[in-house]
Amino acid sequence: MINRRKFLHLTGTGAAGILTSGLASIISAPDVGAATGENNKFNPDLDIDLIARESEIPIFPGKPTYAWTYRGNLIKGDHTSLIENRSSYLGPTLQVKKGQKVRIRFTNDIPEETIVHWHGLHVPAVMDGHPSYVIPRGETYTYEFEVKNRAGTYWYHPHPHGRTGPQVYGGMAGLFLVSDEADEAAGLPAGQYDIPLVIQDRSFDTDNQLMYLSGHMMEQMVGFLGDRILVNGKPDYILPVATRPYRLRLLNGSNSRIYKLAWKDGRPLTVIGTDGGLLEKPVQKRYVMLAPAERLEIWADFSTYPVDSQTALVSLPFDTNMAGGGRMRQRGMMGRRGSGMLGRENDPSNGDPFTIFKVHVKTKETERYPLPDRLVRIPRYRPEAAVNFKQPRTFRLAMQHMSGVINGRTFKMNEVADDEVVRMGTLEQWGFVNDARGMGMMGMMNQPHPMHLHGKQFQVLERQGVAHDGYIDEGWKDTVLVMPGERVRILVRFDDYPGLFLYHCHNLEHEDMGMMRNYYVRQ
Ligand code: C2O
Ligand code: CU
Ligand code: CU
Repeated sequence: MINRRKFLHLTGTGAAGILTSGLASIISAPDVGAATGENNKFNPDLDIDLIARESEIPIFPGKPTYAWTYRGNLIKGDHTSLIENRSSYLGPTLQVKKGQKVRIRFTNDIPEETIVHWHGLHVPAVMDGHPSYVIPRGETYTYEFEVKNRAGTYWYHPHPHGRTGPQVYGGMAGLFLVSDEADEAAGLPAGQYDIPLVIQDRSFDTDNQLMYLSGHMMEQMVGFLGDRILVNGKPDYILPVATRPYRLRLLNGSNSRIYKLAWKDGRPLTVIGTDGGLLEKPVQKRYVMLAPAERLEIWADFSTYPVDSQTALVSLPFDTNMAGGGRMRQRGMMGRRGSGMLGRENDPSNGDPFTIFKVHVKTKETERYPLPDRLVRIPRYRPEAAVNFKQPRTFRLAMQHMSGVINGRTFKMNEVADDEVVRMGTLEQWGFVNDARGMGMMGMMNQPHPMHLHGKQFQVLERQGVAHDGYIDEGWKDTVLVMPGERVRILVRFDDYPGLFLYHCHNLEHEDMGMMRNYYVRQ
């Protein structure tokens, strides 16, 4: 199959790319030139300087933690558009309105190449942070785009090839919140009652310094798993609340860790939104799986809690092989807990239970705020409207040759295969297939893959092989978790922007190993 495919090679990052394969005749030469600087015809509503630099952040008592952080400066725009917390390694939260024009001058001041990607945003290819646009220390890349997305919790992070994992882990990530009229009309808690919470796992040495992968290949196959949970960059996070509902926006900003989120007291989670904003109506779940890069908005109502009481958001234990029939945890390759695959005591594993954050009910409020039963309207795509309705594209996800592969391939900077070319303006059906391979050594090959498409929000059409109840597939998504043994079909439209975009596994270690490919939108 693979060797019958033809590959298109786009030239490097210079001027307009030139297709050099035999298929060139059916595809017009794409513009893959990098953004070259400010465009004086572009009149931004928001003008921001963003820098990535080395910092020392106080996370624990004692020695500060060396981190790489985004820091921002608002040149033009409402002062609420950029909210920075310099005591956290997380980058500033950018808050924009749908339709606003944004200019961001990004300067790299970390000791290696990087580039910024706006995760979930629908922007032109040269604004999307493709790894071919990396800049070295001392250089600036100017982004200019209009925010076309509906209201939602988006985010930004680095995207250099092979180094996304360590850079995000080192601290580089921030939220990009979009508001619009429909969201504002939904009747949800706002202002101080609308709280973003970025969930990440980290490991620290006794000197409070971040520890990343040991270099062990098996560890890379699973992805980095920390033994501590940080929320908004802080350990042991406590959320003080009043007896009233809140809108909590959760982002899983972890490299590889998946959470099975639930309230500690067993109340159901009331989910109101996902990656691309609000759902049509609230959904109740006992627990929700949240994979790296996914977002979840919940309505958290503490009005029935006594003042001074506590609860917590927790991650329940789970087995990543749940759908594959295998009983083993990933660490279980060599046996039980305590004799992990790396031969260390208590290796962290995907599926470990955690307290994510505690909630302290502090103040009494008597006013009542009802949960709206309708939130926004979401027009559903019809599968028959997909141009490939009869022959959906299938992407097989696997661990092979000590790497993650998509249809047997790994990432090549400017390469796109002919089954990765789509036509602009069309709706397509894509399928992700994560076949389970059983137990023993092969059990290691059963990895969860949170699959992400750049530049698009899609709808989940169908899931097969699911052994649990923790998915929110109703809304707009840009990342979808595909557990071992699962198959997911999505509907996605390729509108507005031609060119080269990425799709990849958002387990950042898998991505860095090459479990990433380009897709090309032709006109
Ligand atoms: Cu969060 Cu390639 O993206
Ligand atoms: Cu993305
Ligand atoms: Cu993966």
